[in-house]
Amino acid sequence: MPLVEIQNLQLDLTVEAGRVRVLDGVDLSIEQGTVHALVGESGSGKSLTAMSLARLLPEGFAQRAGGRVLVDGRDVFALDAGALRQVRGGIVSYVFQEPATALNPVMRVGDQILESLRLHQPDRATRAEVEAWLRRVGIPAPEVRARQYPQELSGGMQQRVMIAMALAPRPRLLVADEPTTALDVTIQAQILDLLMDLRRELGMTILLITHNLGVVAEIADDLSVMYAGQVVETGPAATVMTDPAHPYTKALLASVPRLGAGNQLLATIPGAVPPAGRPPTGCRFHPRCPVAASPCGVEVPIPRSMGGGRVVRCPFAVVGAVAGKGAA
Ligand SMILES: Nc1ncnc2c1ncn2[C@@H]1O[C@H](COP(=O)(O)OP(=O)(O)OP(=O)(O)O)[C@@H](O)[C@H]1O
Ligand code: SF4
Ligand SMILES: [Mg+2]
Repeated sequence: MPLVEIQNLQLDLTVEAGRVRVLDGVDLSIEQGTVHALVGESGSGKSLTAMSLARLLPEGFAQRAGGRVLVDGRDVFALDAGALRQVRGGIVSYVFQEPATALNPVMRVGDQILESLRLHQPDRATRAEVEAWLRRVGIPAPEVRARQYPQELSGGMQQRVMIAMALAPRPRLLVADEPTTALDVTIQAQILDLLMDLRRELGMTILLITHNLGVVAEIADDLSVMYAGQVVETGPAATVMTDPAHPYTKALLASVPRLGAGNQLLATIPGAVPPAGRPPTGCRFHPRCPVAASPCGVEVPIPRSMGGGRVVRCPFAVVGAVAGKGAA
C-alpha cells in the first residue's frame, strides 16, 4: 500500500475575488521509503497539494471540494483534531523554504526541538538528543546554539534548525518544500546528503518540491509534474526525465540549462500560466502547447496509464522513441 494516496483532490480557496478552484483533480501516489519529486511552474499548486497531506490550510480559507487524501491509510479530511495532531509532526513533517514561518521567535531553538520531541517521541526528549540533531544538520557548537533564539542565527542556520525540528520526531513522511533554495550550494549538498542518510536509516519517505531538476535527477525515485492545479505526468524519475511524454514535461525539461553550457539562454515556455481558478477550456495547457490539435481546446484530457508506472494527462502522448503527435 502506498504511504500517500491523493485521489482526485479538488481544493477551493476563498480569496478577494470569491471562491476559486486551485486544485482540480490532483492524483498522487507515494510509495513507502521513496523520494517523490514534485515539480511545475510557480502557482501550479505544489505547495497546496503538499499542505493538504496534513490539512495545514485554515478551514475558512481552504475548502476541499472533492476527492480524498489518504496518509498511512488515514483519510486526512475525516480526522478529528486529536487524530490530526498525531499526523502532524508524528507522521508527516514539513520543511519550508522560509524558516521564519516555522520557528517561534520567542523560544530558544533547543526548546523548540525539545517540544517537538516531547509531543511525538517522549522517550527521546532530552537535551542530548536535541544537540545530536543540531550537530547532524551541521550546526557547530550545538550546546551554545541550542540556547539561542532564532533571530540570533543566520538564515542558513535557521533553515538547519527547522530541518532538525522536522526530523527529530522521526516522521514517516518528510515534506520538503524548496528546502534548500535559500542556502548556499555547499550547504544544499550537505542537507540533501543528510536527507538521503535519514531516508536509509529510518526508512523515511520524502516528498520533495523543487525547481532544481538536477536534484531530481540525482535523488528522486519518482517524479510528478503539475500544471495549473493538476498532475499532468507521473512516473519513475529516470524515465520521465529521459523520455518525457507530456508536452508540458518536455517543455519544462527543455527550459533547464545544461551543466557546462556557459551562458546559454534558458528556453522559456511561451505564454503564461493561467490565473488561479480560471483555466482555459479543454486541456489546460492547450494555449501554450506546441503540438495542440483541434480537440485540445474542447476535450478535457483524463489521466491515462502508459505502462511502467507512467500516467499522463494527454491523449496524444507517447512513450519511447516512437514518432507521433506527442513526441515532437
Ligand atoms: N494564500 C494564498 N492566497 C491567495 N491565493 C493563493 C494562496 N496560496 C496559494 N494561492 C493560489 O493557489 C495556487 C497554487 O499555489 P501554490 O502555492 O500551491 O503554488 P506552487 O506550485 O507551490 O508555486 P511556487 O512554485 O511559487 O511555490 C496559485 O495560483 C496561488 O495564486
Ligand atoms: S491534450 Fe493537446 S494541448 Fe493538451 S498537452 Fe496534449 S496535445 Fe497538448
Ligand atoms: Mg510553493
